[in-house]
Amino acid sequence: MSDNRETEGAAGLAGGAIQVKDTRTGAEAEIPIEHGAIRAAALLGIRSGPEDEGIVSYDPAFKNTANCISRITYIDGDRGILRYRGYPIEELAGNTSYLDIAWLLIHGELPTSAESAAWAAEVGAELGVPDPLPRILDGFNPDGHPMAMFIALLAGLGALHPESKQVTDPATRAAHVRRLIAAAPTLAAMTYRRGKGLDPVAPRADLSFPANFLNMVFGGEGSGYEVHPALEQAMDVLFVLHADHEQNCSTSAMRGVGSSHADPYSSAAAASAALYGPLHGGANEAVLRMLDEIGTRRNVPAFMDEVRSGKRRLMGFGHRVYKSYDPRARIIKKTAYEVFEVTGKNPKIDIALALEQAALEEDYFIQRRLYPNVDFYSGIIYEAMGFPVGLFPVLFAVPRMSGWAVQWNEMLEDREQKIARPKQLYLGQPKRPVPTA
Ligand code: CMC
Repeated sequence: MSDNRETEGAAGLAGGAIQVKDTRTGAEAEIPIEHGAIRAAALLGIRSGPEDEGIVSYDPAFKNTANCISRITYIDGDRGILRYRGYPIEELAGNTSYLDIAWLLIHGELPTSAESAAWAAEVGAELGVPDPLPRILDGFNPDGHPMAMFIALLAGLGALHPESKQVTDPATRAAHVRRLIAAAPTLAAMTYRRGKGLDPVAPRADLSFPANFLNMVFGGEGSGYEVHPALEQAMDVLFVLHADHEQNCSTSAMRGVGSSHADPYSSAAAASAALYGPLHGGANEAVLRMLDEIGTRRNVPAFMDEVRSGKRRLMGFGHRVYKSYDPRARIIKKTAYEVFEVTGKNPKIDIALALEQAALEEDYFIQRRLYPNVDFYSGIIYEAMGFPVGLFPVLFAVPRMSGWAVQWNEMLEDREQKIARPKQLYLGQPKRPVPTA
Protein backbone atom coordinates (compact mmCIF):
# COMPACT_ATOMS: atom_id res chain seq x y z
CA MET A 1 0.00 0.00 0.00
CA SER A 2 2.59 2.51 1.08
CA ASP A 3 5.27 1.26 -1.30
CA ASN A 4 4.62 3.81 -3.99
CA ARG A 5 4.27 6.66 -1.57
CA GLU A 6 7.50 5.61 0.10
CA THR A 7 9.69 5.07 -2.94
CA GLU A 8 8.27 7.72 -5.15
CA GLY A 9 6.93 10.10 -2.52
CA ALA A 10 9.82 12.51 -2.41
CA ALA A 11 10.33 12.44 -6.17
CA GLY A 12 6.61 12.77 -6.88
CA LEU A 13 4.23 9.87 -7.43
CA ALA A 14 3.16 9.61 -11.06
CA GLY A 15 0.38 12.23 -11.35
CA GLY A 16 -3.22 11.33 -12.00
CA ALA A 17 -6.36 12.99 -10.75
CA ILE A 18 -9.72 12.13 -9.27
CA GLN A 19 -12.85 13.28 -10.98
CA VAL A 20 -15.76 14.28 -8.78
CA LYS A 21 -19.32 15.13 -9.69
CA ASP A 22 -21.36 17.36 -7.40
CA THR A 23 -24.83 15.79 -7.54
CA ARG A 24 -26.34 19.01 -6.15
CA THR A 25 -25.37 20.99 -9.24
CA GLY A 26 -24.21 18.42 -11.76
CA ALA A 27 -20.84 20.26 -11.92
CA GLU A 28 -17.73 18.15 -12.41
CA ALA A 29 -14.27 18.86 -11.09
CA GLU A 30 -10.88 17.27 -11.52
CA ILE A 31 -8.63 17.20 -8.48
CA PRO A 32 -4.95 16.41 -9.10
CA ILE A 33 -3.29 13.63 -7.11
CA GLU A 34 0.17 14.52 -5.78
CA HIS A 35 2.22 11.93 -3.83
CA GLY A 36 -0.91 9.82 -3.43
CA ALA A 37 -2.80 12.74 -1.87
CA ILE A 38 -5.25 15.42 -2.89
CA ARG A 39 -5.09 18.94 -1.57
CA ALA A 40 -8.07 19.52 0.71
CA ALA A 41 -8.09 23.17 -0.46
CA ALA A 42 -9.03 21.93 -3.95
CA LEU A 43 -12.43 20.98 -2.51
CA LEU A 44 -13.15 24.64 -1.78
CA GLY A 45 -13.81 25.17 -5.48
CA ILE A 46 -16.80 22.79 -5.32
CA ARG A 47 -19.76 25.00 -4.43
CA SER A 48 -23.51 24.61 -4.61
CA GLY A 49 -24.01 28.35 -5.20
CA PRO A 50 -22.44 31.79 -4.68
CA GLU A 51 -23.16 31.76 -0.90
CA ASP A 52 -21.54 28.34 -0.43
CA GLU A 53 -17.98 28.47 0.95
CA GLY A 54 -17.07 25.16 -0.68
CA ILE A 55 -16.69 21.56 0.50
CA VAL A 56 -14.75 20.97 3.71
CA SER A 57 -13.10 17.63 4.48
CA TYR A 58 -14.31 16.36 7.86
CA ASP A 59 -11.78 14.15 9.63
CA PRO A 60 -12.14 13.87 13.42
CA ALA A 61 -8.84 12.84 15.06
CA PHE A 62 -7.04 13.30 11.71
CA LYS A 63 -7.45 9.66 10.75
CA ASN A 64 -6.78 10.38 7.08
CA THR A 65 -5.31 13.85 6.92
CA ALA A 66 -1.66 14.64 6.18
CA ASN A 67 -0.79 17.97 7.79
CA CYS A 68 2.70 18.27 6.40
CA ILE A 69 5.32 16.94 4.05
CA SER A 70 8.09 15.38 6.11
CA ARG A 71 11.40 13.74 5.27
CA ILE A 72 12.34 12.53 8.74
CA THR A 73 10.59 9.30 9.75
CA TYR A 74 8.77 6.67 7.72
CA ILE A 75 6.23 4.19 9.12
CA ASP A 76 4.38 1.44 7.29
CA GLY A 77 1.81 0.34 9.85
CA ASP A 78 0.60 -2.70 7.90
CA ARG A 79 4.07 -4.16 7.56
CA GLY A 80 5.45 -3.01 10.93
CA ILE A 81 8.18 -0.85 9.41
CA LEU A 82 9.86 2.12 11.09
CA ARG A 83 12.75 4.02 9.53
CA TYR A 84 14.62 7.17 10.53
CA ARG A 85 15.82 9.05 7.43
CA GLY A 86 15.49 5.77 5.49
CA TYR A 87 17.43 3.57 7.93
CA PRO A 88 15.50 0.60 9.42
CA ILE A 89 15.06 0.83 13.19
CA GLU A 90 16.30 -2.78 13.56
CA GLU A 91 19.66 -1.80 12.04
CA LEU A 92 19.99 1.40 14.07
CA ALA A 93 19.05 0.12 17.53
CA GLY A 94 22.08 -1.39 19.24
CA ASN A 95 24.49 -0.25 16.52
CA THR A 96 24.14 3.53 16.66
CA SER A 97 24.14 5.73 19.74
CA TYR A 98 21.15 7.91 20.58
CA LEU A 99 23.23 11.04 20.11
CA ASP A 100 24.22 9.92 16.61
CA ILE A 101 20.52 9.27 15.92
CA ALA A 102 19.73 12.82 17.05
CA TRP A 103 22.34 14.05 14.57
CA LEU A 104 20.81 11.83 11.87
CA LEU A 105 17.35 13.27 12.55
CA ILE A 106 18.72 16.82 12.42
CA HIS A 107 21.01 16.53 9.41
CA GLY A 108 19.52 13.65 7.43
CA GLU A 109 22.76 11.63 7.43
CA LEU A 110 24.66 9.68 10.08
CA PRO A 111 27.66 11.61 11.43
CA THR A 112 31.24 10.76 10.56
CA SER A 113 33.31 9.82 13.60
CA ALA A 114 34.73 13.37 13.74
CA GLU A 115 31.24 14.87 13.52
CA SER A 116 29.98 12.44 16.14
CA ALA A 117 32.73 13.41 18.60
CA ALA A 118 32.25 17.15 17.99
CA TRP A 119 28.46 16.80 18.39
CA ALA A 120 28.83 14.84 21.66
CA ALA A 121 31.11 17.60 22.96
CA GLU A 122 28.63 20.32 21.92
CA VAL A 123 25.76 18.52 23.64
CA GLY A 124 28.00 17.80 26.64
CA ALA A 125 28.61 21.54 27.03
CA GLU A 126 24.84 22.18 27.24
CA LEU A 127 23.86 19.52 29.78
CA GLY A 128 23.64 21.97 32.69
CA VAL A 129 20.49 23.99 33.29
CA PRO A 130 20.30 27.56 34.66
CA ASP A 131 20.26 28.13 38.44
CA PRO A 132 16.64 29.15 38.95
CA LEU A 133 15.33 25.76 37.76
CA PRO A 134 16.15 23.84 40.98
CA ARG A 135 14.30 26.60 42.87
CA ILE A 136 11.23 26.10 40.67
CA LEU A 137 11.50 22.37 41.39
CA ASP A 138 11.63 23.00 45.15
CA GLY A 139 8.16 24.49 44.89
CA PHE A 140 6.68 21.08 44.11
CA ASN A 141 5.66 18.46 46.65
CA PRO A 142 7.85 15.35 46.32
CA ASP A 143 4.77 13.24 45.56
CA GLY A 144 3.82 15.46 42.59
CA HIS A 145 3.81 13.59 39.27
CA PRO A 146 7.30 13.79 37.67
CA MET A 147 5.77 14.48 34.25
CA ALA A 148 3.94 17.55 35.60
CA MET A 149 7.24 18.79 37.03
CA PHE A 150 9.04 18.06 33.76
CA ILE A 151 6.49 20.09 31.79
CA ALA A 152 6.81 23.01 34.21
CA LEU A 153 10.62 22.95 34.08
CA LEU A 154 10.58 22.95 30.29
CA ALA A 155 8.29 25.96 30.20
CA GLY A 156 10.59 27.56 32.79
CA LEU A 157 13.53 27.14 30.41
CA GLY A 158 11.59 29.26 27.91
CA ALA A 159 11.49 32.09 30.46
CA LEU A 160 15.23 31.74 31.00
CA HIS A 161 16.04 31.73 27.27
CA PRO A 162 13.95 34.58 25.85
CA GLU A 163 16.28 34.75 22.84
CA SER A 164 14.75 31.43 21.73
CA LYS A 165 11.69 33.40 20.56
CA GLN A 166 13.62 34.29 17.39
CA VAL A 167 12.17 31.23 15.71
CA THR A 168 12.55 32.56 12.17
CA ASP A 169 16.35 32.61 12.57
CA PRO A 170 17.88 29.24 11.54
CA ALA A 171 20.98 29.66 13.75
CA THR A 172 18.83 30.41 16.81
CA ARG A 173 16.68 27.39 16.04
CA ALA A 174 19.70 25.12 15.70
CA ALA A 175 21.11 26.33 19.04
CA HIS A 176 17.85 25.62 20.86
CA VAL A 177 17.29 22.26 19.17
CA ARG A 178 20.67 21.26 20.64
CA ARG A 179 19.86 22.73 24.04
CA LEU A 180 16.49 20.97 24.21
CA ILE A 181 18.12 17.61 23.46
CA ALA A 182 20.86 18.24 26.06
CA ALA A 183 18.60 19.62 28.80
CA ALA A 184 15.95 16.89 28.61
CA PRO A 185 17.83 14.22 30.64
CA THR A 186 18.94 16.78 33.21
CA LEU A 187 15.35 17.96 33.79
CA ALA A 188 14.12 14.37 33.90
CA ALA A 189 16.72 13.37 36.51
CA MET A 190 15.83 16.45 38.58
CA THR A 191 12.18 15.36 38.76
CA TYR A 192 13.25 11.91 39.98
CA ARG A 193 15.51 13.43 42.63
CA ARG A 194 12.75 15.77 43.80
CA GLY A 195 10.45 12.76 44.25
CA LYS A 196 13.06 11.19 46.52
CA GLY A 197 13.80 14.44 48.37
CA LEU A 198 17.36 14.40 46.99
CA ASP A 199 19.43 17.26 45.56
CA PRO A 200 20.08 17.20 41.81
CA VAL A 201 23.30 15.54 40.64
CA ALA A 202 25.45 17.68 38.33
CA PRO A 203 25.74 16.38 34.76
CA ARG A 204 29.00 14.83 33.60
CA ALA A 205 30.09 15.42 30.04
CA ASP A 206 32.82 12.78 30.37
CA LEU A 207 30.14 10.05 30.42
CA SER A 208 28.10 8.91 27.43
CA PHE A 209 24.65 10.50 27.06
CA PRO A 210 22.76 7.52 28.60
CA ALA A 211 25.42 6.89 31.28
CA ASN A 212 25.30 10.53 32.34
CA PHE A 213 21.52 10.26 32.61
CA LEU A 214 21.69 7.15 34.79
CA ASN A 215 24.34 8.81 36.94
CA MET A 216 22.22 11.97 37.37
CA VAL A 217 19.32 9.77 38.51
CA PHE A 218 20.99 7.16 40.72
CA GLY A 219 24.49 8.50 41.33
CA GLY A 220 25.99 11.52 43.03
CA GLU A 221 28.57 12.05 45.73
CA GLY A 222 28.80 9.26 48.26
CA SER A 223 26.26 7.08 46.45
CA GLY A 224 28.87 4.57 45.31
CA TYR A 225 26.78 4.18 42.15
CA GLU A 226 28.54 3.05 39.02
CA VAL A 227 26.78 2.79 35.71
CA HIS A 228 26.67 -0.84 34.52
CA PRO A 229 27.72 -1.01 30.84
CA ALA A 230 24.82 -3.34 29.97
CA LEU A 231 22.30 -0.91 31.47
CA GLU A 232 23.98 2.02 29.71
CA GLN A 233 23.60 0.11 26.44
CA ALA A 234 19.95 -0.79 27.19
CA MET A 235 19.16 2.84 27.99
CA ASP A 236 20.77 3.90 24.72
CA VAL A 237 18.69 1.36 22.77
CA LEU A 238 15.50 2.57 24.49
CA PHE A 239 16.44 6.18 23.67
CA VAL A 240 17.01 5.27 20.00
CA LEU A 241 13.64 3.49 19.79
CA HIS A 242 11.79 6.48 21.22
CA ALA A 243 13.57 9.23 19.27
CA ASP A 244 10.90 9.98 16.68
CA HIS A 245 7.63 8.57 15.40
CA GLU A 246 6.35 11.02 12.78
CA GLN A 247 3.05 12.85 13.28
CA ASN A 248 1.78 11.38 16.55
CA CYS A 249 -0.25 13.35 19.11
CA SER A 250 2.72 14.98 20.89
CA THR A 251 4.61 15.81 17.70
CA SER A 252 1.45 17.35 16.31
CA ALA A 253 1.22 19.41 19.52
CA MET A 254 4.84 20.53 19.05
CA ARG A 255 4.17 21.53 15.46
CA GLY A 256 0.79 23.07 16.24
CA VAL A 257 1.99 25.24 19.14
CA GLY A 258 5.23 26.03 17.31
CA SER A 259 3.23 27.19 14.30
CA SER A 260 2.10 30.21 16.35
CA HIS A 261 5.85 31.07 16.69
CA ALA A 262 5.85 30.33 20.43
CA ASP A 263 9.37 29.67 21.74
CA PRO A 264 10.57 26.03 21.38
CA TYR A 265 10.54 25.38 25.15
CA SER A 266 6.85 26.29 25.40
CA SER A 267 6.17 24.13 22.35
CA ALA A 268 8.11 21.23 23.90
CA ALA A 269 6.16 21.68 27.16
CA ALA A 270 2.95 21.36 25.12
CA ALA A 271 4.31 18.27 23.36
CA SER A 272 5.23 16.75 26.73
CA ALA A 273 1.74 17.46 28.02
CA ALA A 274 0.30 15.60 25.01
CA LEU A 275 2.68 12.70 25.64
CA TYR A 276 1.64 12.49 29.31
CA GLY A 277 -1.81 11.01 28.55
CA PRO A 278 -2.31 7.24 29.04
CA LEU A 279 -3.38 6.76 25.41
CA HIS A 280 0.05 8.06 24.28
CA GLY A 281 3.37 8.05 26.21
CA GLY A 282 1.64 7.68 29.56
CA ALA A 283 0.71 4.16 28.46
CA ASN A 284 4.03 2.77 29.78
CA GLU A 285 3.00 3.89 33.27
CA ALA A 286 -0.56 2.60 32.74
CA VAL A 287 0.79 -0.82 31.68
CA LEU A 288 2.72 -1.22 34.93
CA ARG A 289 -0.26 -0.15 37.01
CA MET A 290 -2.39 -2.67 35.06
CA LEU A 291 0.14 -5.48 35.64
CA ASP A 292 0.20 -4.61 39.36
CA GLU A 293 -3.57 -4.82 39.44
CA ILE A 294 -3.67 -8.17 37.62
CA GLY A 295 -1.07 -9.42 40.08
CA THR A 296 -0.64 -12.98 38.84
CA ARG A 297 -0.96 -15.02 35.63
CA ARG A 298 -3.99 -16.73 37.11
CA ASN A 299 -5.97 -13.48 36.87
CA VAL A 300 -5.21 -12.97 33.16
CA PRO A 301 -8.35 -14.76 31.82
CA ALA A 302 -10.66 -12.69 34.05
CA PHE A 303 -8.92 -9.49 32.99
CA MET A 304 -9.23 -10.46 29.32
CA ASP A 305 -12.97 -11.04 29.83
CA GLU A 306 -13.24 -7.44 30.96
CA VAL A 307 -11.32 -6.24 27.90
CA ARG A 308 -13.48 -8.30 25.53
CA SER A 309 -16.63 -6.92 27.08
CA GLY A 310 -15.39 -3.37 26.51
CA LYS A 311 -15.01 -2.54 30.23
CA ARG A 312 -11.23 -2.19 30.05
CA ARG A 313 -8.45 -1.53 27.59
CA LEU A 314 -5.38 -3.69 27.45
CA MET A 315 -2.85 -0.91 27.92
CA GLY A 316 0.26 -1.14 25.74
CA PHE A 317 -1.78 -2.72 22.95
CA GLY A 318 -3.12 -1.16 19.77
CA HIS A 319 -1.90 1.72 17.68
CA ARG A 320 -3.40 4.22 15.28
CA VAL A 321 -0.80 3.41 12.62
CA TYR A 322 0.60 -0.06 13.37
CA LYS A 323 -1.84 -2.77 12.39
CA SER A 324 0.83 -5.42 12.93
CA TYR A 325 3.52 -5.92 15.60
CA ASP A 326 5.17 -2.60 16.55
CA PRO A 327 8.82 -3.13 15.55
CA ARG A 328 9.95 -1.21 18.62
CA ALA A 329 8.09 -3.62 20.94
CA ARG A 330 9.94 -6.57 19.39
CA ILE A 331 13.34 -4.98 20.14
CA ILE A 332 12.28 -3.88 23.63
CA LYS A 333 11.12 -7.40 24.50
CA LYS A 334 14.58 -8.71 23.63
CA THR A 335 16.27 -5.87 25.54
CA ALA A 336 14.26 -6.79 28.66
CA TYR A 337 16.10 -10.10 28.95
CA GLU A 338 19.48 -8.37 28.52
CA VAL A 339 18.58 -6.03 31.39
CA PHE A 340 17.36 -8.93 33.57
CA GLU A 341 20.84 -10.50 33.24
CA VAL A 342 22.05 -7.59 35.39
CA THR A 343 19.04 -6.67 37.51
CA GLY A 344 17.38 -10.04 37.93
CA LYS A 345 14.08 -10.87 36.27
CA ASN A 346 11.11 -8.58 36.79
CA PRO A 347 8.38 -11.17 37.47
CA LYS A 348 5.82 -8.92 35.77
CA ILE A 349 7.23 -10.05 32.43
CA ASP A 350 5.45 -13.39 32.98
CA ILE A 351 2.07 -11.67 33.33
CA ALA A 352 2.83 -9.53 30.27
CA LEU A 353 3.77 -12.60 28.22
CA ALA A 354 0.57 -14.36 29.30
CA LEU A 355 -1.48 -11.29 28.31
CA GLU A 356 0.29 -11.10 24.94
CA GLN A 357 -0.22 -14.78 24.22
CA ALA A 358 -3.91 -14.59 25.18
CA ALA A 359 -4.40 -11.45 23.08
CA LEU A 360 -2.69 -12.83 19.99
CA GLU A 361 -5.07 -15.81 20.04
CA GLU A 362 -8.28 -13.88 20.78
CA ASP A 363 -10.72 -12.95 18.03
CA TYR A 364 -11.33 -9.58 19.69
CA PHE A 365 -7.69 -8.56 19.14
CA ILE A 366 -7.23 -10.36 15.81
CA GLN A 367 -10.25 -8.68 14.23
CA ARG A 368 -9.17 -5.24 15.44
CA ARG A 369 -5.53 -5.90 14.58
CA LEU A 370 -4.28 -5.03 18.06
CA TYR A 371 -0.66 -5.93 18.87
CA PRO A 372 1.81 -4.91 21.59
CA ASN A 373 3.13 -1.37 21.11
CA VAL A 374 6.30 0.34 22.33
CA ASP A 375 4.85 0.85 25.81
CA PHE A 376 3.95 -2.78 26.55
CA TYR A 377 7.38 -4.02 27.64
CA SER A 378 9.35 -0.78 28.25
CA GLY A 379 7.94 -0.19 31.76
CA ILE A 380 8.98 -3.67 32.85
CA ILE A 381 12.57 -2.78 31.94
CA TYR A 382 12.37 0.64 33.60
CA GLU A 383 11.06 -0.91 36.79
CA ALA A 384 13.80 -3.56 36.77
CA MET A 385 16.35 -0.74 36.44
CA GLY A 386 14.93 0.96 39.54
CA PHE A 387 12.90 3.81 38.02
CA PRO A 388 9.62 4.62 39.79
CA VAL A 389 6.49 4.13 37.71
CA GLY A 390 5.57 7.85 37.62
CA LEU A 391 8.86 8.58 35.87
CA PHE A 392 8.09 6.31 32.88
CA PRO A 393 6.42 8.96 30.67
CA VAL A 394 9.36 11.28 31.43
CA LEU A 395 11.72 8.53 30.25
CA PHE A 396 9.77 8.54 26.96
CA ALA A 397 10.00 12.34 26.70
CA VAL A 398 13.80 12.50 27.11
CA PRO A 399 14.69 10.93 23.73
CA ARG A 400 11.49 12.08 21.98
CA MET A 401 12.82 15.60 22.52
CA SER A 402 15.08 15.11 19.49
CA GLY A 403 12.14 14.11 17.29
CA TRP A 404 9.99 16.99 18.53
CA ALA A 405 12.77 19.53 18.01
CA VAL A 406 13.62 18.32 14.51
CA GLN A 407 9.96 18.17 13.44
CA TRP A 408 9.48 21.69 14.85
CA ASN A 409 12.43 22.92 12.81
CA GLU A 410 11.15 21.19 9.67
CA MET A 411 7.77 22.87 10.16
CA LEU A 412 9.36 26.32 10.45
CA GLU A 413 11.47 25.73 7.34
CA ASP A 414 8.43 24.65 5.32
CA ARG A 415 7.16 27.59 3.30
CA GLU A 416 3.73 25.98 2.92
CA GLN A 417 3.18 25.91 6.69
CA LYS A 418 1.19 28.60 8.47
CA ILE A 419 -0.37 28.87 11.90
CA ALA A 420 -2.29 25.64 12.49
CA ARG A 421 -5.99 26.32 12.42
CA PRO A 422 -8.40 23.46 11.66
CA LYS A 423 -11.95 24.14 10.55
CA GLN A 424 -15.11 22.92 12.28
CA LEU A 425 -18.55 21.90 11.13
CA TYR A 426 -20.88 24.16 13.08
CA LEU A 427 -24.11 22.33 13.91
CA GLY A 428 -25.16 24.56 16.82
CA GLN A 429 -28.00 27.04 17.13
CA PRO A 430 -28.62 29.41 14.23
CA LYS A 431 -28.77 33.13 14.99
CA ARG A 432 -31.44 33.88 17.60
CA PRO A 433 -32.28 36.84 19.83
CA VAL A 434 -31.27 36.92 23.52
CA PRO A 435 -34.51 36.52 25.50
CA THR A 436 -35.55 39.71 27.29
CA ALA A 437 -36.60 39.53 30.94
N1 CMC B 1 -7.55 -2.67 24.38
C1 CMC B 1 -8.81 -3.07 24.00
N2 CMC B 1 -9.42 -2.63 22.90
C2 CMC B 1 -8.78 -1.74 22.15
C3 CMC B 1 -7.48 -1.29 22.48
C4 CMC B 1 -6.87 -1.80 23.62
N3 CMC B 1 -5.64 -1.39 23.99
N4 CMC B 1 -7.07 -0.40 21.54
C5 CMC B 1 -8.08 -0.29 20.68
N5 CMC B 1 -9.12 -1.10 21.03
C6 CMC B 1 -10.36 -1.32 20.30
C7 CMC B 1 -11.31 -0.14 20.47
O1 CMC B 1 -12.14 -0.32 21.59
C8 CMC B 1 -12.05 -0.18 19.16
O2 CMC B 1 -12.99 -1.21 19.23
P1 CMC B 1 -14.45 -1.05 18.50
O3 CMC B 1 -14.13 -0.99 17.04
O4 CMC B 1 -15.21 -2.24 18.92
O5 CMC B 1 -15.02 0.24 19.03
C9 CMC B 1 -10.99 -0.60 18.15
O6 CMC B 1 -10.03 -1.36 18.92
C10 CMC B 1 -10.27 0.57 17.48
O7 CMC B 1 -9.73 1.38 18.50
P2 CMC B 1 -9.64 2.96 18.44
O8 CMC B 1 -9.71 3.50 19.82
O9 CMC B 1 -10.63 3.49 17.45
O10 CMC B 1 -8.20 3.15 17.83
P3 CMC B 1 -7.32 4.46 17.82
O11 CMC B 1 -6.44 4.38 16.63
O12 CMC B 1 -8.17 5.67 17.96
O13 CMC B 1 -6.47 4.33 19.18
C11 CMC B 1 -4.79 3.82 20.72
C12 CMC B 1 -5.15 3.96 19.23
C13 CMC B 1 -3.31 3.59 20.85
C14 CMC B 1 -5.15 5.11 21.47
C15 CMC B 1 -5.58 2.62 21.32
O14 CMC B 1 -5.20 1.45 20.67
C16 CMC B 1 -5.37 2.48 22.84
O15 CMC B 1 -6.08 3.12 23.62
N6 CMC B 1 -4.36 1.65 23.27
C17 CMC B 1 -4.06 1.55 24.66
C18 CMC B 1 -3.19 2.72 25.09
C19 CMC B 1 -1.77 2.58 24.56
O16 CMC B 1 -1.15 1.53 24.67
N7 CMC B 1 -1.24 3.67 24.00
C20 CMC B 1 0.13 3.72 23.50
C21 CMC B 1 0.20 3.87 22.01
S1 CMC B 1 1.87 3.58 21.35
C22 CMC B 1 2.85 4.83 22.06
C23 CMC B 1 2.61 6.14 21.45
O17 CMC B 1 1.64 6.81 21.82
O18 CMC B 1 3.38 6.52 20.57
